[in-house]
Amino acid sequence: MKSFLIALTRNPISLFGAAVVTATAILIVTLFTLELFGFQGGPYSGIIAYLIVPVLFIAGLLLIPLGIFRQRRSDRLAAARGEAPPAFPVLDLNDPSIRNRALIFAVLTALNIVILATATYKGVETMDTTQFCGKTCHSVMQPEFTAFQRSPHAHARCVDCHIGPGAGWFVKSKLSGVGQVVAVATGHYPRPIPTPVHNLRPARETCEQCHWPSKFVGDRIKVIPGFADDEANGEQKTVLLMRVGGKQGSVSKGIHWHVDPGVSIRYLSDDKRETIYEVEMKNAQGEVRRFKAQGDVPKGAVWRTMDCVDCHNRPSHTFHPPAEEVDAAMSDGRLPKDLPFLHRESIRLLKASYPSQEAARQGIAQGLQDFYTKQYPAVASAKSAVIRDASAVLGVIYSSNVFPAMDIGWGTYPNHIGHESSPGCFRCHDDAHKTADGRTISQDCSLCHGLLAVQEKDPAVLKSLQQ
Ligand code: HEC
Ligand code: HEC
Ligand code: HEC
Ligand code: HEC
Ligand code: HEC
Repeated sequence: MKSFLIALTRNPISLFGAAVVTATAILIVTLFTLELFGFQGGPYSGIIAYLIVPVLFIAGLLLIPLGIFRQRRSDRLAAARGEAPPAFPVLDLNDPSIRNRALIFAVLTALNIVILATATYKGVETMDTTQFCGKTCHSVMQPEFTAFQRSPHAHARCVDCHIGPGAGWFVKSKLSGVGQVVAVATGHYPRPIPTPVHNLRPARETCEQCHWPSKFVGDRIKVIPGFADDEANGEQKTVLLMRVGGKQGSVSKGIHWHVDPGVSIRYLSDDKRETIYEVEMKNAQGEVRRFKAQGDVPKGAVWRTMDCVDCHNRPSHTFHPPAEEVDAAMSDGRLPKDLPFLHRESIRLLKASYPSQEAARQGIAQGLQDFYTKQYPAVASAKSAVIRDASAVLGVIYSSNVFPAMDIGWGTYPNHIGHESSPGCFRCHDDAHKTADGRTISQDCSLCHGLLAVQEKDPAVLKSLQQ
């Protein structure tokens, strides 16, 4: 023991190793204690506390015998040369200079621990930020990051949905992240990034950190703006009474019935979750129904239990179709309503193909200018600034949805909420999946929403609501 301590204190490698071991041990204990007291670090604190710091700890441990081994060898050589045998370094605390040094050493060690702890904490915080996730691999994440910033979740963090709380999922996602970093570094990543994300954490463990389906119950009015392709860009509003539902009393009804704790829906589909071959439903009363589509199930079909993201598959990375974008922009005033045929022309120019976002901005501006110069020369000269502004807005819309560098066009990422831009709900609700006794999953228009007005100029229902 004594010779071990002597060897340890007499060589810098072992001393350094011992310092690393001490510091990391203190850090691990601190992080662990914080967690015991309920400090909810982001997912990264888990990996720091249980992966990175322990690796340093082990590295420190390895340095100690390494240093001792080298020290012993040099001691043996020294002994062979007849030099004095090794002893503890003398630390005479009566000597004021030694005392000062010991004091300085103690203070610096304490300081080091504080610095290390702060740096770790800050590191954890930084890796949790949206900036880190969205911008580090800029062009790869740009589509998702851009859409995210325009979504209702712009103030949530990527890690809230992609990793969630606790160390387990963090480690899981980071292990797959190592492969992704290599792919990005070598340029061998898929364009576009494939969807769906097969190893996404079950949504109920992430979404339900912030949303409880039992808290939004009943019906919701939804007014969808719309404009016609005619010269006047005539307004056409659609008003739906969405039966969002949820738990009402002891029974669940409506759309959020699917995520009632008593209900379980599994489905067999292709890898993309677009074609559904079979649906198995168990309801709160314990009834089980199996709905099958006609035809054979191809190889490679997979079962999955339905959760939030089977409907809300794009809660944050919502890429909108061109018509929806133009309708929204006209409705909120970003695009003027009084430029003749602006609705039709905007959609035509947005849908055209361009080699890059920059080319699209120029192409759209040129196309709009040409259209008015040819068809409406008076408008073109009187409203040239308005036309220029409109082109700029269309350029932004294009660059928020189409990313030629990542091979993302309109509709690359279908949105499953509804049935307009993709089959969505109608993947199951098509009256074609049948049980043995002929029961189907209904497509009745009033099952999910009341159609209060469909593409009407001035819906009576909105007038009566405003009175
Ligand atoms: C509100 C929750 C939420 C937030 C916040 C969020 N995502 Fe996602 N993200 C999802 C869901 C859900 C999917 C999976 C869609 C699927 O599997 O069908 C997804 C998919 C992805 C994909 C796979 C490609 C695709 O578009 O389907 C990438 C890449 C991605 N997200 C990156 C990010 C980045 C970067 C951020 C932060 C800037 C972020 N996400 C923030 C919910 C979220
Ligand atoms: C960090 C908290 C957080 C998490 C996690 C989260 N959300 Fe949200 N969500 C919000 C906030 C905040 C809003 C905006 C509320 C508002 O605008 O009224 C929102 C809005 C929504 C909306 C309404 C969108 C709209 O158009 O009005 C839906 C749907 C939604 N979230 C679904 C999800 C789903 C699905 C997940 C999981 C994949 C999820 N959220 C995860 C915080 C969160
Ligand atoms: C069967 C499909 C489906 C499932 C599963 C589903 N939702 Fe929804 N959810 C919808 C639809 C449809 C709406 C209404 C959307 C609209 O009005 O545009 C909605 C609305 C919402 C809203 C907005 C509510 C409001 O008051 O405006 C939130 C938040 C939300 N869902 C969260 C969730 C969460 C969290 C889960 C998982 C626990 C979930 N949803 C599961 C289809 C679904
Ligand atoms: C994976 C298949 C699947 C998808 C996708 C799906 N549903 Fe369903 N849905 C079902 C099944 C199964 C039932 C129960 C059918 C039965 O037994 O009557 C159901 C029932 C319903 C009901 C009636 C609930 C009640 O009892 O009050 C509503 C409303 C509904 N779905 C809305 C939607 C909406 C809106 C979407 C799309 C956002 C959607 N569903 C997508 C499978 C699905
Ligand atoms: C299984 C549920 C379900 C059924 C059945 C259903 N819808 Fe829908 N519908 C939705 C959802 C969800 C939305 C999307 C609301 C949103 O934009 O968030 C929607 C949106 C719409 C819209 C507005 C589209 C837009 O964006 O302008 C119309 C119109 C519509 N539905 C008509 C119908 C008609 C007609 C039927 C009967 C054939 C029908 N729906 C059956 C769930 C359903």
